[in-house]
Amino acid sequence: MIQDKLWYKDAVFYQVSVRAFKDSNGDGFGDLRGLQQKLDYLSLLGIDCIWLMPIYPSPLRDDGYDISDYCNVAALYGNLDDLKSLVGSAHALGIRIIMDLVLNHTSDEHAWFKASRSDRNSPYRDYYIWSDTDQKYRDARIIFLDTEDSNWTWDEKAGQYFWHRFYSSQPDLNFDSPAVQDEIFKVARFWLELGIDGFRADAVPYLFEREGTSCENLPETHAYLKRLRLFMEKEFPGRILLCEANQWPEDVRPYFGNGDEFQMGFHFPIMPRIFMSLKKGRADDLREILGRTPPIPEDCQWCIFLRNHDELTLEMVSPEERKWMWEQYAPEPGMKLNLGIRRRLAPLLDNDRRKIELINSMLFTLPGSPVLYYGDEIGMGDNLDLPDRNGVRTPMQWDDTPNAGFTAGKPFTEFVKGDLDYRHLNVKSQLLDQNSLFHGIKKMIGVRRQHPAFGRGEMQWVDTGNPAIAGYLRRYNRERILVLNNLSESQQNLTLPAEHQGSVVDLLSDDSQLIKSSLSLQPYAYLWLKYDNG
Ligand code: NOJ
Repeated sequence: MIQDKLWYKDAVFYQVSVRAFKDSNGDGFGDLRGLQQKLDYLSLLGIDCIWLMPIYPSPLRDDGYDISDYCNVAALYGNLDDLKSLVGSAHALGIRIIMDLVLNHTSDEHAWFKASRSDRNSPYRDYYIWSDTDQKYRDARIIFLDTEDSNWTWDEKAGQYFWHRFYSSQPDLNFDSPAVQDEIFKVARFWLELGIDGFRADAVPYLFEREGTSCENLPETHAYLKRLRLFMEKEFPGRILLCEANQWPEDVRPYFGNGDEFQMGFHFPIMPRIFMSLKKGRADDLREILGRTPPIPEDCQWCIFLRNHDELTLEMVSPEERKWMWEQYAPEPGMKLNLGIRRRLAPLLDNDRRKIELINSMLFTLPGSPVLYYGDEIGMGDNLDLPDRNGVRTPMQWDDTPNAGFTAGKPFTEFVKGDLDYRHLNVKSQLLDQNSLFHGIKKMIGVRRQHPAFGRGEMQWVDTGNPAIAGYLRRYNRERILVLNNLSESQQNLTLPAEHQGSVVDLLSDDSQLIKSSLSLQPYAYLWLKYDNG
């Protein structure tokens, strides 16, 4: 494994739901051994780092984001030895593994909460936030709008209300308690000692609460996270913290601190704007949000993504834009969820190969490290009959044998149905077909790996005189790469300023060409052109 401390700046991440990836023992649930069996597949795809969604013991009322034991693996997924073995095999292939660290809340089945609710004098009482009234912190918004009507829930046993930013089965930990602060350090140490390469820290804006504020992004929260980073930096250098804060860029910026808080942070608002740009056939929204994105410290990096395990969140758009996005991308009942859209990438893009490739071209070339959601590399569909976000968490479609080669037993859930079901769409057939989406994505990842400009370079918009073209230059040291994406459904002509003309190699086809003032791009076409003199 290359010991570059800044490895995450060049890395392509791959998000895995262990439960839905591959079952090794026939119980119908994906598990760590199953994932281990598929490492060769991920290595072939070319990814650098797996993000494991929660694998902790949990009643699974929020798919594992409700943890009942921080220092173990859920029996459904295997055990700690399986995880060590997975980490060892992944590292041998040059693949790192980060995992979710859910620090804001636990499950109500966690032993801490059980002790906390049953005895006012328990040392654990203070691990959670109790109150005689549900009127405190009224300026804090409700996040799970479709299921919760308050951030407070009355607990009979405790005789008080407890505070929760997500489901009422997920009580928030009280970070004002020094004991809680220490517990999370212990948890982090436990997994880092096991060999985990870092954490995707879940829901970090909400760690502390203060009256009269939105209870988000508070200075106390930053101070605690800085301490966590310092500890990791000292004892586990090279391991990373990735920030999940669904906020505007200016509010995420402080999570990078002076390079002393998170190394990485998701750029949430860019995601809906990529979809907006594609639907409108114009790059303006993308330009606007990138223009509004402040610079971050040298060693930090944004993470960009198209889809993940949650709804396509529309929190970071205006109410008008949200309405428009719902009209465009969630036309049928049941497609909306909370402030978002519960669909996968391929169906969102009408399963149109040109649009799927184009949007991935942007994912792999815009500033930041890309995160792929499992199955999107083959264009998997969703199942809207399943409740909540489960429709985008269906089992990986490995082949066309019964149960998609996912399990030899009874699968824990339904598969995708219809045109995109596993009989029509699966890994096996795409591996055999050199023209498949899988091979297209693999090619993009392979090219990206060879050119540090994508991960480390600066970005400059190129004025092509045509708003339907998202054109930008990525530059690092002497390397210069021009990326042109035609966002529209029709052929587009563009004019290149003199400084961007010259001889180039088309990185995706290996053809050399001389680009002059005018160029024409087919509908939804994209080009990655590297200048010879770079
Ligand atoms: C964010 C996660 O992505 C989501 O799946 C989860 O429900 C909430 N945090 C609560 O942990």
